[in-house]
Amino acid sequence: MEEKMRLQKYMSQLGLCSRRRAEELIQEGKVKVNGEIITQMGYIVNGDEKIEIEGIENKVSNEVVTFLFNKPLGVVSSVKDDRGRKTIIDFFKNENYRLYPVGRLDYNTSGAILVSNDGELTNLVTHPSTHLNKTYMVTIDGKVKLEHLEALRNGILLEDGMTQKAEVELFREKIDQTMIKITIHEGRNRQVRRMFEHFSYHVRNLNRDSVGFLTLGSLKRGEYRKLSDLEVRMIKNICKANQKNNIIPDYKKK
Ligand code: URA
Repeated sequence: MEEKMRLQKYMSQLGLCSRRRAEELIQEGKVKVNGEIITQMGYIVNGDEKIEIEGIENKVSNEVVTFLFNKPLGVVSSVKDDRGRKTIIDFFKNENYRLYPVGRLDYNTSGAILVSNDGELTNLVTHPSTHLNKTYMVTIDGKVKLEHLEALRNGILLEDGMTQKAEVELFREKIDQTMIKITIHEGRNRQVRRMFEHFSYHVRNLNRDSVGFLTLGSLKRGEYRKLSDLEVRMIKNICKANQKNNIIPDYKKK
């Protein structure tokens, strides 16, 4: 969807330069929008224009890249936010790529999410037929009933259908909270929260530990790392193989 905004803001969102530097460049007559030099401060763009800056017009790189990001809480999984909230792409201001998040994590969910400009990888990772595993650590208030964990393993009926088999492990019990590790290979909206809410548990915290074999490792909240070519190839190959063989991982029952 297009969003009207000032040219200097758009330039900084593209990662071309800071907003202040953009203002200087506009004043100096060094910025072209769709081939026309624009010197008017506050010029409005739709977000689909070609921007050229004298001297650095090729700064946005066409290299195909993917990053693993550790999303903090209170960050929107999008490129821009109408309500001015911090987005995942705000963390990539120093990268000269047109990046977007691959799929989404809720505003109040933290953890692993891929950020990329690779259309093929995005389609594969987000397509339901590729069944890529995602592992979450869920913290609920109070204790959990083992029969509920067993039901979550086997599949439960949510309003958008049965959930597929999942790997579910009681991770840690404290006096007032319980941590459960769950691996699913679907990506329905708010799926993990809804699975626990189905049994009236209150989800206190939700963190995604891994996407496929990609774990956060030493990445702190707000940090990211570039995936190697091998990691990208492996993720794509796993997705393609699952798709081709219609494989849904068959989890061992505990
Ligand atoms: N399931 C959820 O409920 N929320 C997320 O962000 C991801 C999975």
